[in-house]
Amino acid sequence: SIPVPSIKELVAQPLDTVPLRYIRDLDADYPTAAAFPGDSSVQLPLLDMAKLVDPQYQEIELQKLHDACKNWGIFQLIGHGVPDESLKAMHKKTQEFFDLSPEDKNQYAQKPGSLEGYGQAFVISEDQKLEWCDMIFLKAIPTHTRKLEFWPEEQPRNFREALHVYSHDMRKTAVSIIGFIAMALGLDFKDFREVFEGGNYDVRMNCYPPCPEPERVIGISSHADLSGITLLTDCGDIPGLQVLKDGRWVFVEPITDGMVVNIGIIMEIVSNGVYKAPYHRAAVNRHKDRFSIVTFCYPSKKFDIKPAKELINPDSLALYKSFTNDEYFRSFYERTELSDDGVPFID
Ligand code: SIN
Ligand code: FE2
Repeated sequence: SIPVPSIKELVAQPLDTVPLRYIRDLDADYPTAAAFPGDSSVQLPLLDMAKLVDPQYQEIELQKLHDACKNWGIFQLIGHGVPDESLKAMHKKTQEFFDLSPEDKNQYAQKPGSLEGYGQAFVISEDQKLEWCDMIFLKAIPTHTRKLEFWPEEQPRNFREALHVYSHDMRKTAVSIIGFIAMALGLDFKDFREVFEGGNYDVRMNCYPPCPEPERVIGISSHADLSGITLLTDCGDIPGLQVLKDGRWVFVEPITDGMVVNIGIIMEIVSNGVYKAPYHRAAVNRHKDRFSIVTFCYPSKKFDIKPAKELINPDSLALYKSFTNDEYFRSFYERTELSDDGVPFID
């Protein structure tokens, strides 16, 4: 990847207008759409893990989960069991990391050809459009996948410990929710839990500095996740995540003690398209930094990515082909290219 200035450095000087490289035609992808805070406060489905595990409420809550995954592919989750201290610690360390000096952060800068480390996603061309987002991307689980040279040490103090704990907490929640998703689809609960128990977990921490012209830039451009599922926590209550719902971009309002769960393309394939990986993007804001932490949850590498056999029959043919783990990722990376407005996309 090609080094570009961080957004935090860019906004360190007073800035009335946004440099051309960041100006986007926001409506280009989806002409009907651009939402701004307050535009459309649609409530995302709200699921409660405490009810999913409670025999008294399980059946009703599973139906809600099924409807949420089918109609939205994204929902808010409460009762998820991640300790408050773990969330708070990770949120604090994330903000502290982005507050370090450029020199300190650049110790952990991405290396050419790899997303891992501190920088920007997918900068592959000098003239592509850029996203209004600084990030640090780290593989966290299994622990042998960690590239510790990219993990902040000394500063912020205890960043590594916080991420270690946080990623294991997130895995626990992911495994539970995947089990219930399997159950809602009529698949084997235990199998899916095992497949994600032995899966890979990558964490991306995002910082979206304030922008003088928020309606002309994008924090993260529209995409669907390659993951099985993705868990997102917001480090505050500033809205930024938007999801494409019935042809309109809708803001996802962060809720206290909640996290956002979305279906990734792997679970879309497993469900044979019954559940859809939603298109989503991140908008930025005029006055405040927004921070978010995204955990991408992948199945074990031994798992073949294909529609579940229980969902295939003469009346419901397989809509997706079968991939080994390697084939799946290769098929995406081979197709990474620049779209018309100069932003890399994966489809
Ligand atoms: C975010 O809302 O900060 C991240 C958007 C994404 O998960 O792609
Ligand atoms: Fe995403």
